[in-house]
Amino acid sequence: MTLAAPLDLLRQARARFTQREIAAHVGKDIKTVRRWEKGETPCPAMLEPALRDLLHTGARTSGPNGTAGDARFRFIDLFAGIGGIRMGFEAHGGECVFTSEWNDFSTRTYRENYPAGDAHALIGDIVSFPAEDVPSHDVLLGGFPCQPFSIAGVSKKNALGRPHGFECTTQGTLFFDVARIIAAKRPAAFLLENVKNLLSHDKGRTFDVILQTLRDELGYEVHYRVVDGRHFTPQHRERIIIVGFRGKTGFCWDDLKLPTTGPRLGSILHRTDGGEPVLPWDHDRFFDHAGQRVQPKYTLTPNLWTYLQNYADKHRAAGNGFGFGMAYPDSVTRTLSARYHKDGSEILVYQGEALRPRRLTPRECARLMGFPDTFRIPVSDTQAYRQFGNSVVMPVMHEVARIMLPHVQALLAGTTHDGSRQALSLHA
Ligand SMILES: C[S@@+](CC[C@H](N)C(=O)[O-])C[C@H]1O[C@@H](n2cnc3c(N)ncnc32)[C@H](O)[C@@H]1O
Repeated sequence: MTLAAPLDLLRQARARFTQREIAAHVGKDIKTVRRWEKGETPCPAMLEPALRDLLHTGARTSGPNGTAGDARFRFIDLFAGIGGIRMGFEAHGGECVFTSEWNDFSTRTYRENYPAGDAHALIGDIVSFPAEDVPSHDVLLGGFPCQPFSIAGVSKKNALGRPHGFECTTQGTLFFDVARIIAAKRPAAFLLENVKNLLSHDKGRTFDVILQTLRDELGYEVHYRVVDGRHFTPQHRERIIIVGFRGKTGFCWDDLKLPTTGPRLGSILHRTDGGEPVLPWDHDRFFDHAGQRVQPKYTLTPNLWTYLQNYADKHRAAGNGFGFGMAYPDSVTRTLSARYHKDGSEILVYQGEALRPRRLTPRECARLMGFPDTFRIPVSDTQAYRQFGNSVVMPVMHEVARIMLPHVQALLAGTTHDGSRQALSLHA
């Protein structure tokens, strides 16, 4: 299976489907599809999974990406959330064979988007799950919980007089659950994702322990890099990505293709010019199509808007920069957080002087994280905001998967990517 650019996929899809069918499948209007085809506007990278799904299945039968029958590699999805990392890897022909996620609301979204056809278990708590019962796999994926490592998590726990990082006996030790599964199953590769602050937590000691465990104890070749999601979606979201390989490879971060001019907020906002597609799974939940406006409930109440302005004024007077983040169509937003549902303060959408600003709708949050419009949101707005705020900029995962997979294939074939032979260690 060769990897194709979105436009190539669109062309392949056009050989079998009408513009209208493609538009309905990817959740865009027909004019937009026409513009992509003519090259008037670029076909966004975030639509690749939906186009691939259309090509593989001919209809949406097995989740936003479909599950390729000719899977090139098997992977497991730990701390799966809503499957943002999974989606990036599945788009390259991977088959998910095991999932762990303990939050009921997240698993609801996950099951809705990656439904039957998955012949694998979705288990809850990974801590109590025996590593030997995890099925053999080629790639382990894990965005292990970041709260103990994030600035917010650390300061909150300090404030409560509680330990943080590895000293925290619950969430902080989840890295070691990843490590024990790698030790038992010896996948060809892994990808771990976390907040950038993991690098500096506890003066770098936390990260040293992680590297030491992966390199010295487990014997993997490890590479890491901070990647900003703003290359792919209009959101400043820096995350550390750690990848590891069971043998020697020529993996190089320089192979990562990061578009230099990323999109701006206007490209993901609901369109009020008649161009907002009616998604049958959303109907008018977020956007009132008759009135051509975002549902009024997303506009801040007068009380909340007054509170946020006073709060910002207080902090400005005290000489620090805390406050709300007003976003305009040409903006790149701040990082969407799991607490966005509380007041939406980090990303407020400007609606002109006459109107109070509004929150992003959950559909816009999905777009801000690079999920295609085919992604279903079956939970409440509060849960949806939490889930997207905890997830990943999916196209980043898609791009990292692209540069990892030749090395995974080479390891599975017992060669290095340049074709030279190396010792083959079979997974358990
Ligand atoms: C940072 S989020 C990962 C989000 C994911 N990468 C995505 O794309 O949505 C961490 C997830 O780990 C889950 N989690 C935390 N502790 C867990 C445990 N012990 N067992 C299984 N899942 C757990 C949380 O519910 C949360 O959804």
